[in-house]
Amino acid sequence: MAMELQLEGRTALITGASQGIGRGTAKCLAAEGVKCAVAARRGELLEELADEIEKDGGPRPETIVTPDLTKRGGTAPIAEEAIKKLGHVDVLVNSAGRSKNPDYPGNMPFDAPEEIWDGEMQLNYGSIRSLTLALMPQMIDQNFGRVINITGKTEPRDMRTANPTKAACHAWAKGLSRQVAKHNVTINSIPPGKIVSEQILRNYSPEARKNTSKWINSGDFGVAEDIGHLIVFLSSPLARYITGTVIPVDSGFRRYAY
Ligand SMILES: NC(=O)c1ccc[n+]([C@@H]2O[C@H](COP(=O)([O-])OP(=O)(O)OC[C@H]3O[C@@H](n4cnc5c(N)ncnc54)[C@H](OP(=O)(O)O)[C@@H]3O)[C@@H](O)[C@H]2O)c1
Repeated sequence: MAMELQLEGRTALITGASQGIGRGTAKCLAAEGVKCAVAARRGELLEELADEIEKDGGPRPETIVTPDLTKRGGTAPIAEEAIKKLGHVDVLVNSAGRSKNPDYPGNMPFDAPEEIWDGEMQLNYGSIRSLTLALMPQMIDQNFGRVINITGKTEPRDMRTANPTKAACHAWAKGLSRQVAKHNVTINSIPPGKIVSEQILRNYSPEARKNTSKWINSGDFGVAEDIGHLIVFLSSPLARYITGTVIPVDSGFRRYAY
């Protein structure tokens, strides 16, 4: 029997949807009949995405222009606007984030300013936590919720702001999963390997991409939809038994075997 994902008519809020993984995920969810609210700072890119999705036959997404999420206080209005525009939110995909602060394109010096660390922690963890908490009461009330965090690898090759901020997200999500499980709410994290996106194109020259690809089983970087397809499944009622976990999508890029 074919697998019926039961996503038609459900709703999703996707942050970081103007580019990269968030954008690809919105397309994958919309293709399954999910009505999305797509959020990011650049509203013009969100409108372009909405046009594309509509042209492809999906439900036109609502757009939500967000503030800079390295600063506190930006998430409650996003949750409010999503509920207002969608009626309710079934699925939250936290994809706003970055692996490097643009002012520090290489490794982070150990004595980098405190406010840089605070901002990266807020973007990659704090804003994910507060947006999730803002939507949790209505997920509990409707006895259904799916939260999917796009994180990243946590083992440091050198000093990077991404590693500790993504690790915080994994540990927090595990704890939350225990408290909300009885309400049919799951929360999972996906650390991508190397996926072509705006920040990856900024951080990798064609030469660096070629060198890094030697460590990827498929031989090249992936595309946003490689993550989006897993998100579609995790969003489905069928994924009820998967929660509190970390599922890398990286074509074998990580070198450890557990
Ligand atoms: N691609 C990969 O290979 C890879 C690998 C490991 C981890 N990740 C993680 O995956 C997530 C998505 O990354 P991506 O590769 O898809 O990146 P991307 O193409 O650069 O997209 C990042 C998205 O986040 C939004 N964003 C970035 N900074 C923001 C800020 N300060 N405030 C509000 N929104 C912000 C951007 O929208 P606006 O600029 O329009 O606001 C954009 O939509 C990130 O957390 C990243 O660390 C990606």
